Amino acid sequence: MSVTLSLAPLAGYTDRAFRTLAKEHGADLVYSEMISAKAVCFSDAKTRELASFGEVERPICFQLFGREPQDFEIAAKTLARDFSPEGFDVNCGCPVPKIVKSGEGSELMRSPALIGHIVTATKKAGLPVSVKLRLGVDEEHKNVLDCARAASESGAERIIVHGRTREGGFSAPIDFASIARVREEFPNVEIVANGGINTPADAREMLEKTGVTHLMIARGALGHPWLFDEIKADLDARPFVAPDLYEVICHHLELACTFKPISRALPEMRSQLAFYFKGQRGAARTREALMRATSRAQIDTLLKEFFNR
Ligand SMILES: Cc1cc2nc3c(=O)[nH]c(=O)nc-3n(C[C@H](O)[C@H](O)[C@H](O)COP(=O)(O)O)c2cc1C
Repeated sequence: MSVTLSLAPLAGYTDRAFRTLAKEHGADLVYSEMISAKAVCFSDAKTRELASFGEVERPICFQLFGREPQDFEIAAKTLARDFSPEGFDVNCGCPVPKIVKSGEGSELMRSPALIGHIVTATKKAGLPVSVKLRLGVDEEHKNVLDCARAASESGAERIIVHGRTREGGFSAPIDFASIARVREEFPNVEIVANGGINTPADAREMLEKTGVTHLMIARGALGHPWLFDEIKADLDARPFVAPDLYEVICHHLELACTFKPISRALPEMRSQLAFYFKGQRGAARTREALMRATSRAQIDTLLKEFFNR
């Protein structure tokens, strides 16, 4: 079976460095961190940085968030002209209160018609469009099918389903049956299953229980970017040898310092380093010291000490 594995959008994590790493370890498709459609309309410099990427990251989709269809149209046309990504995704899943209060992210799921208008507007840039949905805002409003219908009738080529409601946050059990239902209802749309895929066994379970052939990996890849290759090896019944952790971390650090000024790269690497060290025996002291490190040399020394290099 041919399976596609995508790296999910993860604000604060899936920057150029991490996306490059994911590609090197088998991701077939990567998504940008979420980009404000409105901010693109104002030519915000920070936003343009979020949209920059290297050729090795292709194919890449930009994820936009917002509420006004017109913002999506302008943003998509601007970004298509300046960056030529392979497609756009509309964020319909973000549960962060500030976003929800503005009627954006998961709040869009209260209005399937608006999702349709946003897809129509985004498609005016002439590139493929996907939507990233949850199952609904809560158990009483599980309207993923209505939202998927509105998106597909407006021309969305791909629908990503995170198998939890907004109320379910990031830890509720995955509702495989609801994802399977979306796949059955929309046989002509590419359905992508997301949520809780942290191991090859999780990937197998998702594939078996939903019938999709495209999986989106999110937190499972943090501190474990080789998960894509690991899942593919498992599906092909090939042996898999995990890469050397020290080498992966050093390479990640190098990429981070290549793409961002060191004054930003180092603080941002802290949260990534915390994931690499999660579950490592005897790492508590090194982890703490890494969180306080203020120079690349300090980090290099701490890593060398911990890994005996
Ligand atoms: C720190 C963090 C940042 C996220 N940022 C985004 C984002 O920018 N856009 C988006 O659609 N989803 C975002 N998500 C949701 C993930 O893409 C994914 O749907 C979710 O984590 C469920 O997958 P998982 O259980 O495999 O982690 C974020 C999640 C986390 C934990």
